[in-house]
Amino acid sequence: MRILVTGGAGYIGSHTCLELLNCGHQVVVVDNLSNSSVEALKRVEQLTGQSIRFYQADVRDEKALSAIFAAEKVDAVIHFAGSKAVGESVAKPLFYYENNVSASGLLMQVMLKHQVKTLVFSSSATVYGEPVSSPIREDFAVHPESPYGRSKLMVEQMMSDLVVAQSDFSAIVLRYFNPVGAHESGQIGEDPNGIPNNLMPFINQVAIGRRPCLSVFGDDYDTPDGTGVRDYIHVCDLASGHVKALETLHQNAGFHVFNLGTGQGVSVLEMVEAYRRISGQLIAYQVAPRRAGDIGCYYGDPSLAAEKLDWKAERGLDQMVADSWKWQKLNPAGYPKN
Ligand code: NAD
Ligand code: WQD
Repeated sequence: MRILVTGGAGYIGSHTCLELLNCGHQVVVVDNLSNSSVEALKRVEQLTGQSIRFYQADVRDEKALSAIFAAEKVDAVIHFAGSKAVGESVAKPLFYYENNVSASGLLMQVMLKHQVKTLVFSSSATVYGEPVSSPIREDFAVHPESPYGRSKLMVEQMMSDLVVAQSDFSAIVLRYFNPVGAHESGQIGEDPNGIPNNLMPFINQVAIGRRPCLSVFGDDYDTPDGTGVRDYIHVCDLASGHVKALETLHQNAGFHVFNLGTGQGVSVLEMVEAYRRISGQLIAYQVAPRRAGDIGCYYGDPSLAAEKLDWKAERGLDQMVADSWKWQKLNPAGYPKN
């Protein structure tokens, strides 16, 4: 298949482009490079020995998007482009609704205009908000607690409504738990701007000596060691989940929702200890107050994806850590700037 990947230069997008190419698909990327480097795509090309059609364009630009669809004749779209920082979304809600919600609506309009009827969308476990229990199934109640989370849920709802109106449309929502790790080559990985918000990139930077100490946000949660528990998933497993979803559900009309996670909870201190053991680096940390809005424990039930997509996460915690560390060691300052 020929797949248009929005946000394909980003962290999850670049790993998915690599997996698509390795599975024999063709890839067209649309990315405005607002949070990524074109270097990631060059490295994907080197790793696969195949080329990517790249357009530096904004998905909010209807004219540009329409011209790309007219030129490329794609079979399906995977839509990663968007903004993803929970805290920033509280400070700039209208920007999040524009870049995540309005842009997705526009993308769907352009898809319909060009007869492209399969869309895979990057949603997030954050749509569940605080769950009644874990593991979380797809039919649990959704009540996102930030503008970011609500923007994801709104796009899910737009997709569901579109399927009612347009019965031959295949709308596939993938709710990711916590993506971490990097490709085993260490050539592509996560390269956050500024101070990382998320645990793994922060630990990476402590390990490499860019930051002195990790703050562990709270050790008094109702979890075995008191620190937050999450369902970390290797980004390459996440990437293969997208390809499986496409291959299984392309032209399978309807609205489909899947969790992509491992089903295993890992605490902050377990992650720190695994990183110390695997990298051999001391990960200095101090316990700090809870972070506003954090939930003590959540992890997913990935059994629906196993049943319907024949997909499950193959890589465990040690590989997530080993691959993160390899990426960080080989690229201590991330990608070269654009
Ligand atoms: P990322 O920031 O690395 O990738 C997003 C890409 O989209 C970047 O390359 C950025 O330049 C591009 N982009 C942003 N706005 C754009 C626009 N208007 N037009 C064109 N390109 C634009 O983030 P990621 O971690 O790879 O996340 C990809 C998707 O997965 C996002 O939609 C995110 O919300 C979702 N998601 C991420 C996580 C996570 O923890 N990383 C978890 C759940 C869901
Ligand atoms: C994990 C654990 C923190 C940083 C976020 C978004 C979510 C999704 C994934 C996009 C928690 C603790 C963290 C640090 C710490 N993104 N922590 N010190 O909060 O589960 O999810 O990213 O969709 O929407 O909310 O991930 O990596 O920030 O935190 O102790 O410096 O690590 O408290 O327990 P989170 P995270």
